[in-house]
Amino acid sequence: MIRLVINETKKTGKVEPEIYGHFSEHLGRCIYEGLYVGEDSDIPNVNGMRSDVVEALKEIEVPVLRWPGGCFADEYHWKDGIGEKTERKKMINTHWGGVTEDNSFGTHEYMELCRQLGCKTYVNGNVGSGTVQEMSEWVEYMTFEGVSPMANLRKENGSEKAWKVDFFGVGNENWGCGGNMTPEYYGNLYRRYQTYVRQYDEKKPICKVACGPNVDDYHWTEQVLKTCFDHAPEHLHGFMDMISLHYYDLPDGWEPKVSATEFDEEMYYKTLHQAWRMEELITRHSAIIDQYDPEKKIGLAVDEWGTWFAVEPGTNPGFLYQQNTMRDALVAGITLNIFNKHCDRVKMACIAQMVNVLQSVILTEGEKMLRTPTYHVFHMFRYHQGGELVESSLSTEEKIGEGACEVPCITESVTQKDGILTVTLNNLSLCETKTLQLQFAEEGYEVTEAGILAGADVHDFNTFEEPDKVVEKKYEDYEKTDGNRFVLTLPAASVVMIRFHKIS
Ligand code: AHR
Repeated sequence: MIRLVINETKKTGKVEPEIYGHFSEHLGRCIYEGLYVGEDSDIPNVNGMRSDVVEALKEIEVPVLRWPGGCFADEYHWKDGIGEKTERKKMINTHWGGVTEDNSFGTHEYMELCRQLGCKTYVNGNVGSGTVQEMSEWVEYMTFEGVSPMANLRKENGSEKAWKVDFFGVGNENWGCGGNMTPEYYGNLYRRYQTYVRQYDEKKPICKVACGPNVDDYHWTEQVLKTCFDHAPEHLHGFMDMISLHYYDLPDGWEPKVSATEFDEEMYYKTLHQAWRMEELITRHSAIIDQYDPEKKIGLAVDEWGTWFAVEPGTNPGFLYQQNTMRDALVAGITLNIFNKHCDRVKMACIAQMVNVLQSVILTEGEKMLRTPTYHVFHMFRYHQGGELVESSLSTEEKIGEGACEVPCITESVTQKDGILTVTLNNLSLCETKTLQLQFAEEGYEVTEAGILAGADVHDFNTFEEPDKVVEKKYEDYEKTDGNRFVLTLPAASVVMIRFHKIS
């Protein structure tokens, strides 16, 4: 029997709530229809934000929302998205389907959405095609409370009070769609642009995020940091608070052809293997960051992650709309457990994307809405937000498959918050139930609550006709065997959350 040894007396760091963050881009039906329908829509809304989606998102306690892109960010000119809606400039969304962007969702609408969700704001600036002045003025517009040209403009547009920008991204994927730059060139631009991301209110500091690598581009990480930390500008307050990492689970490479719902055993394990690769990527990028920041002040922000399959048949290829099965749920479970375990360096992560794009937690079709299996994982794992990571390890390193299909049999993480221990587990085996002995250091624990996500078939997914085919259920397949031990039965391809409190 596999043993999970938990030493609840040893805490190794805080799991920042922002690890459970989301990403929303002007792409396909993420913003328009998915989140924003406009005040005049027949779909029930509050100030244009669709109420069913906002309510569902509140249940997973979204901690932060990144916007407006993605590739879109480096082509976005924020002044096009303010003022009277009918007069806002229209533009072509060149990256995503060449559709017309009418800019009816802009800065004010984004801030309103975050207000309704009760989440932190993460605005991504334009380095690729924008000027330093444009970026600087956006920050002034959003955050300056006093009298200034941009603050006055904001007030004229109906927002008397400045907002709080919690995180600000200085460019997106500047190695690719954000300008095809070399790391040295971007590093220098980062130094320059970030200078003018002014901290107007020291009580509301803006956390600055530098554009980090794509997948395993260790050279990018090294060179950006080298360029940025040459002549040691780190004495400047808030020079670089985070560096990003983008990693998508593309089991058949870029331009994916594999279906989100139809896959064989090999493709199942390949997808999970790709998800598990996040462990190596974080470890190796962190080792580079350690050289420049041994005190771990700079966070790694994995601000784009998730599965990327072929679009649903019959949908616009530029909209990246895909279904979401139990396989996606396992990818989410694997990834979130990895983030928890690396909370010393990973301070934020944003799944791509929130609604109707790639590995979404919610899908919509007109007035209909459904929660995907990935949504339920975020719901089960929400207890980790803000918890202390607890030392835990498995007694086995048993793997399934080989090479490009190899994955650990089980993955886990444990946190403690408000006296309650939350354990999350994934059984990645496609057909074998696993029995696990969970052992605490101390005695006296009882189960507080437990949930499980498992489809009758790993291909199961939710549809608008059957939105609750894959849902979180009460988990009862456990037994207390003595003072500090429990035995858990984990069905094949399942995600389990079990929480414990101490009675003595
Ligand atoms: O999430 C879709 C796209 O993937 C983003 O716009 C870009 O940053 C990444 O390549």
